[in-house]
Amino acid sequence: MSVLITGGLGHVGSWVAYLLAKQGKQVVICDTAANRFDSLGLDYLEEVRDLLTLESVDILDYHNIFEIFLRHRDELEGVIHGVSVIAGPYFQEHPFKHLSINTMGTLNVYETCRILGINKVVNMSSGAVYGDAPGPQHEDTPYKATDLYGASKISGELYGLQYSDTFGMDIRNARLFFVYGPGKRPSHMHKVYQGLFGPLEGLTDIQAPNGSEQSMDWTHVLDTATGIVKLFEKPQVTNRNFNISSGVPVDHLRIVDEVADITGKNSNVQLGPGPFVVRGAPLDISRAREELGFEPRFTNIRDGLLDYWQWLQNANRLQ
Ligand SMILES: NC(=O)c1ccc[n+]([C@@H]2O[C@H](COP(=O)([O-])OP(=O)(O)OC[C@H]3O[C@@H](n4cnc5c(N)ncnc54)[C@H](O)[C@@H]3O)[C@@H](O)[C@H]2O)c1
Repeated sequence: MSVLITGGLGHVGSWVAYLLAKQGKQVVICDTAANRFDSLGLDYLEEVRDLLTLESVDILDYHNIFEIFLRHRDELEGVIHGVSVIAGPYFQEHPFKHLSINTMGTLNVYETCRILGINKVVNMSSGAVYGDAPGPQHEDTPYKATDLYGASKISGELYGLQYSDTFGMDIRNARLFFVYGPGKRPSHMHKVYQGLFGPLEGLTDIQAPNGSEQSMDWTHVLDTATGIVKLFEKPQVTNRNFNISSGVPVDHLRIVDEVADITGKNSNVQLGPGPFVVRGAPLDISRAREELGFEPRFTNIRDGLLDYWQWLQNANRLQ
């Protein structure tokens, strides 16, 4: 059997693909970046390359998506949907395009699965669906959008819940939060991410406009991906929404200090006042713990940063 992952060359999707392939599963990856796989620097996927089928497709190209899903349907266990434009200052620069990718792209996946009889879908959602509700945010905390990205993730969840109820599908939402770690170079990210993690890659003199007054449960990408795989593989669930994060809030300025301590350098990082995005924290992960057996490994941020540093040093050497 195989699993189809949209956005499977992204930060989270690529680790989900890795974990599934390590179990010996065939993985079909649908991603616009598929035709430049060799330039993405996802070295861990080389180990499982034989088990990956890469399909280059835009999630908004419904007919192409349909043809690809149809071609693989008979071997599919289900779909993990991970295409999205993620939260950050870039999102509102092209609001219509980004909202279309997040909402219409998600609908394209659900609709194709409905017509083709592919019942099981895990949708990568976000803790952004709680907005700035104070933590710990439980899955029953009401929806609240504090930005366009959050609105797009809420709509993706609601479509999924209604498709499940109306058409007997099994669509589950993994609510992820602030992912960091191997697979993503800080230099390719927004300024706050660069400020927090950039010195691990050798970046210096970073001035981020905000982010100093925030404490979030940053989650190592391997923990995030492990939670998604557990949610996908659970035969029956009693709930459709699951928080997946480290569950441990960490002050942004502490991350800056830990990184300086690890690299042994003062890299001249400045985070401006106020929060990076308007969010509450942390997510309450007790449901995922109890029902999925999810236990994050990197609950001590220093362990996660050391692991990330190692990967970035290797990535710099290979460059
Ligand atoms: N990264 C985080 O901190 C975070 C936090 C909460 C939720 N999430 C959610 O997790 C999911 C994965 O996030 P990520 O960090 O891996 O994102 P990412 O940006 O690293 O990956 C997204 C992938 O989607 C692909 N893609 C983008 N537009 C596309 C399109 N139109 N058609 C086909 N492919 C397209 C990109 O090439 C990329 O490989 C998203 O749904 C995101 O909203 C992420």
